[in-house]
Amino acid sequence: MKIHTIADSVYCIPVDIRSTDLFEGIWPVPNGFSLNTYVVKGEKTALIDLVQDRPDAASPVETALADRFGPVDYLILNHLEPDHSGWLREFLRKNPRAQIIATAKGIDLVTSFYKIDKAGTALRAVKDGDALDLGGGKVLTFFEAPNIHWPETMFTWEASSGTLFSCDAFGSFGALGGRLFDDEFNDAEHQRFEAETLRYYANIVSSFSAFVERGVEKVSGLAVSCAAPSHGMVFRRNAKAIIDRYLRYAGYSKGRTEREIAVIWGSMYGNTKKGLDAVIKGIEKRGVPYTAYQVPNDNISYILAAAFKSAGLVLAMPTYEYAMFPPMAYVLDIFRRKHIYHKKVLRIGSWGWVGGAQRAYDAAIADLKWDSLDSYEWAGAPSAQDLAVLEERGAALLS
Ligand code: FEO
Repeated sequence: MKIHTIADSVYCIPVDIRSTDLFEGIWPVPNGFSLNTYVVKGEKTALIDLVQDRPDAASPVETALADRFGPVDYLILNHLEPDHSGWLREFLRKNPRAQIIATAKGIDLVTSFYKIDKAGTALRAVKDGDALDLGGGKVLTFFEAPNIHWPETMFTWEASSGTLFSCDAFGSFGALGGRLFDDEFNDAEHQRFEAETLRYYANIVSSFSAFVERGVEKVSGLAVSCAAPSHGMVFRRNAKAIIDRYLRYAGYSKGRTEREIAVIWGSMYGNTKKGLDAVIKGIEKRGVPYTAYQVPNDNISYILAAAFKSAGLVLAMPTYEYAMFPPMAYVLDIFRRKHIYHKKVLRIGSWGWVGGAQRAYDAAIADLKWDSLDSYEWAGAPSAQDLAVLEERGAALLS
């Protein structure tokens, strides 16, 4: 466990989680992830965001508090998702006099998640612009930032150091390995973190892009010199870089995407794959960059990230029992939940005895605001004529 100094009397205790657990029980994290807890010390001590209730997360924070910081006067909970609050009951047992500060919705979640005794606990609900003076020149100001990533979320601002504690916003997958700040990572590492930031955003935040834009706008008047999320690196050399990256990702939700194609396919006996190969030939002739993912083999987490950033999608799947190939139906359900909107899309596929995938597909994409090329289906194996049409469609997708 290492305590990092952000500025005078402003500290971070990052904890790397490297087990093979799924983030939120869904998303794979082969590179781990970090849970960052912050301490601001004035005459009083504030702790900003907790950790999950798991020994590899709680123990380092507990040690840091005991060895270095002492009793906590205020616990600021920017967000109540249990990765940032799960250790609350145990924390309160050790710090019974700490006042818990959150938005009103956050205070409701404190009681519903942790069943703490309301009468016996100091709880304070804050709203936009409320401030907490810690003494010694340290004042924390709170800004409600709903839905980044749950409705109760807020940012905490410490003006003397220019630090914005943004919790999930500006966060990333990826463990930190003992470092914390953006200036401690080389270009190759930044590239890897950028891929993990995109995947984190697409998996966790993409449904809430409009709220990301509003949250950034709300703090646009602050001189943010340090962006301090509760997952991933802290940006002190270039806070604007991660804020701008998040705005770019928010733009993907509105169709301001990259000129790339995400190809997502499944095939039972190779006939849909033969047709897809012709589509890819057309894409390659046109020179459009593409990435390809097979379902169910490739994880939805990576498919989602590629689809989110790409202007074009190819969805290739056969009919299965009068409907879509089931793993593709799951992909489309996730796309709907995560607002994978404003795409140029080509759907293709083979059928055997009878079709049905197209009807199910049309129903599944009804709300997705997609601009679709005419779908193309064929019976059994694709003919030479089918392959010629498919190649043309591939070339036309992002012409
Ligand atoms: Fe990192 Fe929405 O919790």
